[in-house]
Amino acid sequence: MHIKKISIKSIQKNHLKFSENLISVNGWIKSIRNGKENSFIVLNDGSCFESLQVFFSSEFKQKELLKTLNFGSSIEIEGILKSTPERSQKFELKAEKINNFNLTSKEYPIQKKNLPITFIREYPQFRSRTNYFLAMFKLRSEVSKLINNYFSQNNFWYINTPIITNNDAEGGGESFSIENQKENEQFFSKKANLTVSGQLHAESLAQGLGKVYNFSPCFRAENSNTTRHLSEFWMIEAEASFFDLKQIIDTAEKLIKYVISGVLKNSKSEIKYFQEYNGKMIESELESILKKKFPRVTYKKSIEILKEKNQKDPNFFEFNEIFWGMDLNSEHEKYLCEHFDSPIFVINYPVELKAFYMKENSDKKTVSCMDLLFPKIGEMIGGSAREEKYEILKLKSEKLGLENENLNWYLELRKNGYAPSAGFGLGLERLLMFLSKSDNIKDTIAFPRFPNSLNF
Ligand code: 4AD
Repeated sequence: MHIKKISIKSIQKNHLKFSENLISVNGWIKSIRNGKENSFIVLNDGSCFESLQVFFSSEFKQKELLKTLNFGSSIEIEGILKSTPERSQKFELKAEKINNFNLTSKEYPIQKKNLPITFIREYPQFRSRTNYFLAMFKLRSEVSKLINNYFSQNNFWYINTPIITNNDAEGGGESFSIENQKENEQFFSKKANLTVSGQLHAESLAQGLGKVYNFSPCFRAENSNTTRHLSEFWMIEAEASFFDLKQIIDTAEKLIKYVISGVLKNSKSEIKYFQEYNGKMIESELESILKKKFPRVTYKKSIEILKEKNQKDPNFFEFNEIFWGMDLNSEHEKYLCEHFDSPIFVINYPVELKAFYMKENSDKKTVSCMDLLFPKIGEMIGGSAREEKYEILKLKSEKLGLENENLNWYLELRKNGYAPSAGFGLGLERLLMFLSKSDNIKDTIAFPRFPNSLNF
């Protein structure tokens, strides 16, 4: 007789549908209790965050095999689904037969529940077996889906920009160079990098497709081993021609709110888990953010606010020399969010602080740009209106020492039917940090890349 395999998600959704049916379930063992008479196993198959309890009565035939099963084993079990409405656990599987199984060895590092997250980080190959990472990777998948939905519903075309480039889009000199394995051979007959941002290519596609978005890995050789930086991260970049800064800010705010509402609706179990794990109120904070209009504050005003705080409390900031033209440090960004009790858009930074492609304002001192700052996280999104004038763009790129030979194709867009354009980049892992209240960005991606670490 063929016994139907049922996912734990389907059972959780409507257990009554399977009540008293003989079914087959598989998964990894989350816990085992072996009593004198009865035994219990808690099983998770990855289909949902919740697990299934399996009950082994005293009549269970494979008792000896049962005793050998250990934490983390994979297993396939046949049994009858029993409704137990009188108990807090409303149903369980009464095991009849263990079909397949594979035990964990003595060396299996995840031997216990509730291991510190820093310990589990050393074993990324097993991270998806732990509750924390089950929750994180499901949240990541859901957030990615919501982002795609948002853009699709708002008529942005999904594009793919190249990973291998010859430019350093941000002009920050933080790109990784690539070479082929054979010595002294430039595969492309010139220097080649991994992309730091797909923006330049996205801009060219927007000059024809109108509104586009890109969802792609980006690579940065910043030697900053902080809790907010990765060497490989995923960026969602939106670019829209005939858009100005205000329109792109509105788009960014709507996108963030769309994702938050979706997470509150579709990722309840994961949010509840992170709330308990991190001991922080996530749900109510997300709900309150939805009601706020994110303030738009100029860089100039931000400096005034920081100065005021610094005057009142000179020991408050570690970097307490506050002046127009300074780069905002993460402590300053965090303070500004606290000051407004909200995520905020800081706009119009000084020209010198920002990338060459950002549009100069009429004061010639600032550029038409925005950073969306989030409490505790700092910069979540960076974006701008793009410089439209060929001469200015050329001059700025030259000043930075960017090789025009590699940028001509981009600069020439300005000479040929160029439409004003604006866009932004959102860091997926920073968004996940915020949604889960994780302290370290390395715990939001399956195989984190960061300086001095490439072991897996
Ligand atoms: O502000 P950034 O550098 O902007 C750009 O790259 C633009 N070209 C985007 C555009 O306009 N199309 O980066 C955008 C976002 C940051 O706000 C941050 O969330 C994330 O990307 N990010 C990082 N995330 C993790 N690790 C890093 N090293 C990151 N660098 C940037």
